[in-house]
Amino acid sequence: MKPQPLPANLTTSHVEIDEQHAQLLAWARALVLDDPAGTESERRRALAFLLFYVERHFATQEAAMRDLRFSGFERHRAEHTALRGQVADIARAASAGLSLAVGERIYDLITAWLPGHVHEHDSDLAAFMRARKASIPPLPGLDDLFEDEPDLPDWMAEALAGTPER
Ligand SMILES: [Fe+2]
Ligand SMILES: [Fe+2]
Repeated sequence: MKPQPLPANLTTSHVEIDEQHAQLLAWARALVLDDPAGTESERRRALAFLLFYVERHFATQEAAMRDLRFSGFERHRAEHTALRGQVADIARAASAGLSLAVGERIYDLITAWLPGHVHEHDSDLAAFMRARKASIPPLPGLDDLFEDEPDLPDWMAEALAGTPER
């Protein structure tokens, strides 16, 4: 999934954080492609990557904050945790069938949440990391995810459990 350039209200001073946000939005968009050839299994694949990406993106930021003793760590992590919960709720609903409407709910949630989070939290962290020349590790692609078969959280495994094509 090729990311589109980030809009100005989403850019931070940190290249890797911006790259991860662009990738995250690209996979959110993949959930709402109203392509007649689009199938539930393709949406499910997009959801798999998106869920994985959200989780890993948050985890890498939280690890960086902890390592660098970033003062806004707890507040920042609390926002991540809240979004994790909201995504999990919708993803659980997707285990009953990942319709375009469910895809749109997830897309709307992510795109409504991200600008405020970037403005309030990620931009401060980005500036802090940039000043210390700190980087975050690159995230593996979808193929790596399935090759390694990591232990997925229950809610994610549930959301990814195959449902019949409709
Ligand atoms: Fe972020
Ligand atoms: Fe964040």
